Amino acid sequence: MITLKPISILSEEMPMCIALEVYPEQEDYVANNAYSLAEAYEENKNHAETGKGEIAVPYAVYENDQMVGFAMYGYFFPDPEDDEAYDNQNPIYYFWRLLIDKNHQRRGIGCEVVRQVMDIIKEKPQGDAKYCYVSYVPDNIGSKTTFANYGFQEDGREIDGETVARYAL
Ligand SMILES: CC(C)(COP(=O)(O)OP(=O)(O)OC[C@H]1O[C@@H](n2cnc3c(N)ncnc32)[C@H](O)[C@@H]1OP(=O)(O)O)[C@@H](O)C(=O)NCCC(=O)NCCS
Repeated sequence: MITLKPISILSEEMPMCIALEVYPEQEDYVANNAYSLAEAYEENKNHAETGKGEIAVPYAVYENDQMVGFAMYGYFFPDPEDDEAYDNQNPIYYFWRLLIDKNHQRRGIGCEVVRQVMDIIKEKPQGDAKYCYVSYVPDNIGSKTTFANYGFQEDGREIDGETVARYAL
């Protein structure tokens, strides 16, 4: 059974999470989990102090008792200085990170995690938004297929060299 468990850089399980790995040829597709957990901590601290920026919601992915992956979504507030904003000046949900350990890929776990995270996002726990966005390196066929299977549709844009896809909430 695949389950999600909230995790942070301060969690007991943090060392296990940062030990998860992708194949060498996938390293350009996703940040490592140490970076993601540090980024989540910083963004949440900044948001708590200023009310601006992003709220990050990171999860460890378990198959039964074993940690096999990491997922993180964000709630992004409008940034008037960002001329490549995903949905103009509206807040959005963003499927920020998805990483399945190399020893557990191609077994349907990525698709199941997207389904479970989207169940959470559809409840709009951090606030309203019209869309959930994701972006991936154009040659990342695994990511493209995983999000397309759920119903994400590419919107024709490329931002920071990544293909943008979105799902209407
Ligand atoms: C992308 C990733 C999360 C997919 O997770 P997964 O558990 O392997 O995915 P699933 O087994 O659920 O497969 C989902 C679909 O993608 C396809 N797929 C997965 N990896 C693939 C690959 N390397 N090449 C081609 N297709 C791939 C599967 O065949 C399946 O398609 P299907 O349902 O049409 O058969 C995983 O490969 C990963 O962590 N990659 C490295 C990090 C990354 O790219 N993250 C996403 C950044 S946006």
